[in-house]
Amino acid sequence: AEVVFVDSEAAAGTLAAASIRSLILQKPDAVLGLATGSTPLSVYAALAASLTADPIDVSQVRGFALDEYVGLPADHPESYRSVITRDAVVPLGLNPANIRVPNGDPATIRTAGLDYEAAIVAAGGVDVQILGIGRTGHVGFNEPGSSFASLTRIKTLTEKTRMDNARFFPSIDDVPIHCMTQGLGTILRARHLILLAFGAEKADAIAAAVEGPVTSSKPGSVIQLHPHVTVIVDEAAASKLE
Ligand code: F6R
Repeated sequence: AEVVFVDSEAAAGTLAAASIRSLILQKPDAVLGLATGSTPLSVYAALAASLTADPIDVSQVRGFALDEYVGLPADHPESYRSVITRDAVVPLGLNPANIRVPNGDPATIRTAGLDYEAAIVAAGGVDVQILGIGRTGHVGFNEPGSSFASLTRIKTLTEKTRMDNARFFPSIDDVPIHCMTQGLGTILRARHLILLAFGAEKADAIAAAVEGPVTSSKPGSVIQLHPHVTVIVDEAAASKLE
């Protein structure tokens, strides 16, 4: 992977946003892989600012979210459908009809994964996948032990991840236990991966992903199997790299 060291989240956002902007200029119906959570916010903010300052046509841009909680209604404020709409679709001015999120409805859980994979294939695949990384080393919600061949499916969140995400809910008991997530195999099919991480609490996960053995017990290490990866880290997140 190419590792880029930045001074601030804002600088990371500017770099990633420039890459996405040039992709959209080359390919107006580009397919973006959208992450939720805190990490990509600087990317969406920088891209929104750049589109405001110097507009380009984004009406054909398509997007696929990485994951969704199982069992939250889609209109719940913390469903990833709601989060991606609030954090990316609205500020970037994307067409909501072009944005897919895995279906977390328990009633369709057996077919939701295959449907999502088929939609990604029909779109021609993901051009650039934005990734954060969890303290457990998860990418998407592929917790340790996820197969490198895995496709979109239901997974159980670890207690550590549920604790990390409890900040968005009244209490940890309100954090769903299951999710639908793109698999590591799905992520590997994207043509370019941009993995971002900020802060000391991500340092172990970044060291394992970038330099550790390639092992499903460190799901982020899947990036070492991909031919085109850009890792953008601040000093604290980079602090455990050799
Ligand atoms: C989000 C996702 C997760 C997050 C990770 C880091 O769609 O799939 O892998 O990227 O949990 O979360 P933050 O960015 O909130 O630290």
